[in-house]
Amino acid sequence: MERTLAIIKPDAVAQGIVGAIVQRTEAAGLSVVAMKMAHLSRRQAEGFYYVHESKPFFATLVDFMSSGPAVMMVLEGDNAIQVWRGLMGATNPAQADKGTIRKDYASSIEKNAVHGSDAPETAAFEIGYFFSGVEVFKIDAEKVRQSGSASC
Ligand code: CMP
Repeated sequence: MERTLAIIKPDAVAQGIVGAIVQRTEAAGLSVVAMKMAHLSRRQAEGFYYVHESKPFFATLVDFMSSGPAVMMVLEGDNAIQVWRGLMGATNPAQADKGTIRKDYASSIEKNAVHGSDAPETAAFEIGYFFSGVEVFKIDAEKVRQSGSASC
């Protein structure tokens, strides 16, 4: 089992496609084990993307990520990092494969609908950036079906 941090970015939230993205995620076998909606401050967006702070697109990326509410999720499943990256498609929607989220919903390389961690170390940082331990649930789908509850 692996976990990854996924973000449904402000452009996707504004399009009203949160449900469609979550539906694709669960259909691919990933479990949503944490979720929150937040309108990030500039400082929060800068901190999240600190690895890109020297890039020419950093300022506009921070503007975009703090322009409206986003949905942060922790996804869990076998090979979750790569499975979610496969669902997202390439960073630039013009290069994304048919049927991927970015091909279907993103408008540019910057306003590209979704984010996903690129490696286990990145996932650990990114999950911890938005979620504390008690906000990430251990969900046993079979047990939930039987008892209707999940535990953290
Ligand atoms: P994400 O997967 O969240 O990781 C970093 C983000 O920076 C990326 O998605 C895009 O939103 C943005 N980004 C990456 N490359 C560029 C670029 N060349 N121009 C503008 N924005 C970019």
